[in-house]
Amino acid sequence: MINSLDFVKVTESAAIAASRWLGRGERNIADGAAVERMRERLGEMAISGRIVIGEGERDEAPMLYIGEQLGRGGYEVDIAVDPIEGTNLVANGLPNSIAVLAVADRGALLHAPDSYMQKLAVGPKAATVIDLDVSVKENLDAVARAMDKRIEDLCVIILDRPRHAELIKEVRASGARIRLISDGDVDACIATALPNTGIHVAMGIGGAPEGVLAAVAIKCLGGNFLGRLMPRSDEEAARAKAMGFGDLKRVLTLDDLVAGDALFCATGITDGDLVKGVRIVDGYAQTHSILVQSAGVVRFVDATHRLPA
Ligand code: FBP
Repeated sequence: MINSLDFVKVTESAAIAASRWLGRGERNIADGAAVERMRERLGEMAISGRIVIGEGERDEAPMLYIGEQLGRGGYEVDIAVDPIEGTNLVANGLPNSIAVLAVADRGALLHAPDSYMQKLAVGPKAATVIDLDVSVKENLDAVARAMDKRIEDLCVIILDRPRHAELIKEVRASGARIRLISDGDVDACIATALPNTGIHVAMGIGGAPEGVLAAVAIKCLGGNFLGRLMPRSDEEAARAKAMGFGDLKRVLTLDDLVAGDALFCATGITDGDLVKGVRIVDGYAQTHSILVQSAGVVRFVDATHRLPA
């Protein structure tokens, strides 16, 4: 039996390590520190873990590479990690960076290629009304009706990227409001499925691995997430095909992304919509984490860690 809190300890350790590099302009060093801590912690656990979403292929990532086996032996699980989701946010000391982990039964997580994904995420009230094949306006109308809101009261969160210029125009034309973010769409997608975040819909194109991570939490929370792979080049498309994605245009549902029991946890590195960031006070680090499990329970876990002298 795995204690889910043990996974929270993994993201806590990664977040503390990353927070040391806050605002220092060193995204790779910060990432390396978080990766190392996360790997060390997973290695200590009584699991037979296999990384399915990690830092890259074996030849390009020394740690937490795809296929790496971790743990002292035990229950067989697949693990998706993003030791720093929002490396630029950490490097610049900006909000909404988190250390993230998802764990599921062996074989239950989609092996997403390192590519882009078109994403549409909503919370439980609008879970059944979204469709990746209809217009932005039709989706927003349907979400507003399902949430018993005026479309003007909806807030849509979108990554601030040139590729989203048309999407932003369409959302504005519908009357809905927009929150543009510079990075961090895992946090953004999950915020749609939690109460009182003020964010109702997440739309746009971001990383495919991040899509799987967000989908785990959203599935546990009863919301909905739809995705479609968006390869950036012929080479990415070929790689996706080689990984078994026959029809690249197919809409990926929550069940395609997460096919069994799963757990998601994240610890704030900087303050965000889901959790607060790491605070260092008098030789202690205070952490704030979110833990979401298949049974639909959300736990917010606060901890104080004595730091080595
Ligand atoms: P990293 O932490 O790996 O840099 O990812 C941050 C992020 O903003 C993700 O949240 C998002 O899915 C992706 O980058 C978007 O990619 P791009 O910056 O290429 O638009």
